[in-house]
Amino acid sequence: MAKRALITGVTGQDGAYLAKLLVEKGYKVYGGYRRTSTRNFWRLHYLDVKKDIELIPMDLIDQTSILMALRKSDPHEVYNLAAQSFVGASFDEAISTGEISGLGVTRMLDSVRFYNPSIRFYQASTSEMYGATPPPHNEDSMFRPQSPYAAAKLYGHWVTGNYRTGYKMHASSGILFNHESPIRGVDFVTKKITDTVARIKMGYSKELNLGNLDAHRDWGFAGDYVEAMWLMLQQSQGDDYVVATGECHSVREFCEAAFSRVGLNYRDYVKVKDEFKRPLEVPSLLGDATKAREKLGWKPKVTFGELVQMMVDADMEKYQNPTKHSEQFLKHM
Ligand code: NAP
Ligand code: GDD
Repeated sequence: MAKRALITGVTGQDGAYLAKLLVEKGYKVYGGYRRTSTRNFWRLHYLDVKKDIELIPMDLIDQTSILMALRKSDPHEVYNLAAQSFVGASFDEAISTGEISGLGVTRMLDSVRFYNPSIRFYQASTSEMYGATPPPHNEDSMFRPQSPYAAAKLYGHWVTGNYRTGYKMHASSGILFNHESPIRGVDFVTKKITDTVARIKMGYSKELNLGNLDAHRDWGFAGDYVEAMWLMLQQSQGDDYVVATGECHSVREFCEAAFSRVGLNYRDYVKVKDEFKRPLEVPSLLGDATKAREKLGWKPKVTFGELVQMMVDADMEKYQNPTKHSEQFLKHM
């Protein structure tokens, strides 16, 4: 009999990649999504996986909807990917970020404990929890969150550990460093850069306005990172794991690589604007994924250079073939 998995946040970047991976592994996949005024399944179509999964409406603010989703899917594994995941927005919407990305984790854990405590649970923790702690970061590094998002995620991270030790649940946290892809949300700096590079190349935009160009991040490919999530739930016990490439680059370096992919010099187009700077910044994140490598046998496949090229090429293709993309969009409505 096929294993069953419930993914919360299936309409997001990681949700779509994880759904694809689990379908390929023979799982029956249920995807939790929240109702929005405009349908939001484009990533699932982009990866051609919507037809293979069953969608269940659920919201991390609504405990009953979580219990109903568990009853409907009766899963062996739950991957809690749903969150208000944009650090910048968490300064403007601190309370709802805490409700969803923090308390939402407890609602999930309590629901699982109530419905069937033998379900294996994955929590999407984040390198943002390290915040002001200087790199490199591993599972023992100190957490010093620098945003309402990171504080909410740290709460969810600790609670996941509490349920693991207190209630003996198979609950794991993946402390994932930044991971990107062609279906990354356009608010995030990598996608904002690659999308604007393509727009500039096509003549639709003249400049790229950014905040702190000196921030450093350990950027990997989302398709590689969802494999680590699955591996965590295949272990005999739950645990915490850092997932990262072990290489970090600045926003400036990302710009340089992205513009040069289309034969342009970033210095001619990038402008620094205060409106894109944050009240608090995380200057540098760099992960040490030794534990994931040794215990899970996980390592990243896509390099920084390949990631930038993949994202720029996908955005160029989107603007060069607008008919194909608008037809696809219409099909998904
Ligand atoms: P994403 O693209 O922003 O997706 C977030 C998902 O959560 C979306 O499906 C969103 O639904 C859903 N969601 C938001 N609020 C919800 C609510 N109240 N109830 C139910 N669903 C809700 O994020 P991602 O990049 O895939 O990241 C997945 C998870 O990993 C997140 O928890 C994120 O914080 C964490 N994480 C990400 C990274 C990274 O670099 N990508 C690194 C570390 C940790 P809508 O589509 O309706 O908005
Ligand atoms: N978004 C954005 N927009 N970021 C900018 C900009 C801009 O115009 N200009 C500079 N930056 C800097 C940010 O200040 C930050 O230091 C860095 O670029 C990366 O920003 P994001 O791409 O928004 O990602 P993040 O690192 O804040 O958060 C992402 O990674 C976390 C894991 O470390 C998100 O995916 C989080 O959900 C995730 O937990």
